[in-house]
Amino acid sequence: MITMFPKRAYRILVFAFLLQAIGLAPVFPSPQQTAPATSGKQKAQRNSGDPWWRHAVIYEIYPRSFQDSNGDGIGDLNGITSRVDYLRDLGIDSIWITPIYPSPLVDFGYDVSDYTSIDPLYGTIADFDRLVSEAKKRNIRVIMDFVPNHSSEQHPWFKESRSSRANPKRDWYIWRDGKRPGEPPNNWQSWFGHSAWQFDPATNQYYYHHFYKEQPDLNWRNPEVRKAMYDAMRFWFKRGVAGFRIDAVSRLFEDPDLHDDPIVPGRNAYGDPNILHKYTDNLPEVHEVLREMRRVAEEFPGSRILISEADEPNISELTKMYGKNDEVQLPMDFQVADVNKLSAPDFRRLLDEVENNPAGGQPHYFFSNHDQPRQWDRYGDAVHNDQIAKLMAALLLTPRATPLMYYGEEIGMRTTPPARKEDVQDPIGKIGWPEEKGRDGERTPMQWDNTKNSGFSSAQRTWLPLPPSAAEYNVESESRDPNSILSFYKRVLALRSTEPVLQHGSYVTVDRDNPFVLSFLRKNVGKGNSILVVLNMSGAPQTIKFDLASQGIKESSAKPLIAAPQLGPDATVLAHFTIPAFGVFIGAVH
Ligand code: GLC
Repeated sequence: MITMFPKRAYRILVFAFLLQAIGLAPVFPSPQQTAPATSGKQKAQRNSGDPWWRHAVIYEIYPRSFQDSNGDGIGDLNGITSRVDYLRDLGIDSIWITPIYPSPLVDFGYDVSDYTSIDPLYGTIADFDRLVSEAKKRNIRVIMDFVPNHSSEQHPWFKESRSSRANPKRDWYIWRDGKRPGEPPNNWQSWFGHSAWQFDPATNQYYYHHFYKEQPDLNWRNPEVRKAMYDAMRFWFKRGVAGFRIDAVSRLFEDPDLHDDPIVPGRNAYGDPNILHKYTDNLPEVHEVLREMRRVAEEFPGSRILISEADEPNISELTKMYGKNDEVQLPMDFQVADVNKLSAPDFRRLLDEVENNPAGGQPHYFFSNHDQPRQWDRYGDAVHNDQIAKLMAALLLTPRATPLMYYGEEIGMRTTPPARKEDVQDPIGKIGWPEEKGRDGERTPMQWDNTKNSGFSSAQRTWLPLPPSAAEYNVESESRDPNSILSFYKRVLALRSTEPVLQHGSYVTVDRDNPFVLSFLRKNVGKGNSILVVLNMSGAPQTIKFDLASQGIKESSAKPLIAAPQLGPDATVLAHFTIPAFGVFIGAVH
């Protein structure tokens, strides 16, 4: 067990408090305290006593693909800074930027070679500080990605570790002898295909890598590793970051006795036998580390947050990530993200499960990210995709949760995988082609306008090509169209921030047996209206007989706030409510 210097943390907080009391600035910039302009929305949140992240909308930026400022065809920090007004006008509260640390970019930044610096490709520390400060002026907080499971093989720690068996950093990584000459220590497989063990002739041992062989796993049983990683987190907290999204956190520990993983029938996309990652995933020690990380976050003022990449198989594993409110505040909910079909019963059940999680933790939903095919085509039916994109927006942004958007979903960006193997950038696609084409398709550049490279870059060639759909689906043209996906997102985001019941109201599903339509109330516990959300997940119109009297609703009609498509005046009578195919309705009920 590592010691977390609780006394030191306590002293820092007391010191910060004393400085404040005598009218000086706090020791560390606090994302909350230094935000200058206070919007009505923020006042409402502060008065509620809730921490900021309970009502925030987080927006993921894949920095290579958001905005290029220096014409090299790759996005960068100054590019993001040049777009902060767009982010403010969209109505989001926080951005999570995927890794921008120095990296050989084998896994596009998820192979870190220095945890406390910025890769020159993206800019400098000064550029980063400027982004944090410009974002803060617009009440937008910056969340960084943190990659604790593994470093790059180019990290100086690993270079030392592999140099000799006697090196003091040898134990910072996982080294083992082979079973017999030419045979790895056991049958563990890399998530990215083939054996998870790489032989290193220099010292005649194997090292373990859960992902690519260029991403050796750090040894979290070693207290020095923990201290070094927690100090890296402190480095960024001191620079004012609002929190971290913690990468691949369930993979931090492996069985020290190296039991073989169970083999199950079939082969995966890489041609390996299927296995269950029983001995390398979700070991109980993970939670000890999450508690320690939480204590690091709490050394700093301003409700810093931890988000876990929690690819958990069920609600009970997901619930564990909250701990006793002493682990992460927001575990990413892959169960909801991966329903992968428009099924009202499935979404109803999963949202209910998280809503009632025994830890009382805040739900954290998303549908797209840099590893998942985009929702426009994943949930679209190839005919009504734009309408379904609006339905997915309402499903993300109106339940009681902290939603996570992915850049470009607000304009209906689609997955555009490479057509030829030689164009593939993501190593997964190179190893698994053609069955596994990799993740390039969901990482294409942001589509801003109708100029060269859709306004993303002035380069001759961008790192991934702009999809042909960019001519129609871009920020500039959608801003002019009141019926566009972008205009719809903006309306729902604005409603979310101005309607207190969408922030504080409870979440209650109604019409629970409907196989096609997901309906729920955001219920006002005090005075004022509640909000009824009706999402038709089928390709046919549906009529519903709502009986909301038991929920304290007295009036017979709902008053539309946002509907797509628009509904006629008779349609919103609760006793025979009619909603078109894939229709979305958000309305006030009294
Ligand atoms: C996470 C990241 C993914 C990366 C992997 C290995 O799953 O989201 O992009 O390849 O970790 O670091």
